[in-house]
Amino acid sequence: MSSNSQGGRPTAVASDHAGFDLKGIIKKHLEARNVEVMDLGPHSDESVDYPDFARKLTECILNGGAGRGILVCGTGLGMSMSANRYRGIRAALCHDHFTASVARRHNDSNVLVLGGRVLGSELAIDILDAWLDTHFEGGRHRRRIDKMEEPGT
Ligand code: RB5
Repeated sequence: MSSNSQGGRPTAVASDHAGFDLKGIIKKHLEARNVEVMDLGPHSDESVDYPDFARKLTECILNGGAGRGILVCGTGLGMSMSANRYRGIRAALCHDHFTASVARRHNDSNVLVLGGRVLGSELAIDILDAWLDTHFEGGRHRRRIDKMEEPGT
């Protein structure tokens, strides 16, 4: 199906301490858009390790508990590196509207990654909206995405 439909499943959010504040802003924005949110933590800005939260969120998507997810750390790098180690996860680290939109249209990204120490909140929300509102085009892009899942990759 060429869409960004989540089949009624919630959108998961998670961060580390450096992404905690932006996670809160994202969560409020999703709720204002009537998107069902699953907050996988952390629930305070105490220091934590980003791979632990990338794992929580990707496992939640892979086991069907969430349809898509948003990860936030300081730069977005650690979260994207961690999340993309899980087969079936296509985590897109985005710093602008265009990349977020193409991440959906061409890459069928199921995880958006943002840098809490890099982006102002207005830009982060603009990127988030572009990612949420853009549909996967399918076609030749489906073939390429399927190749990412081939054994040995
Ligand atoms: C935490 O200090 C920081 O390293 C982390 O949030 C992230 O930027 C890692 O990629």
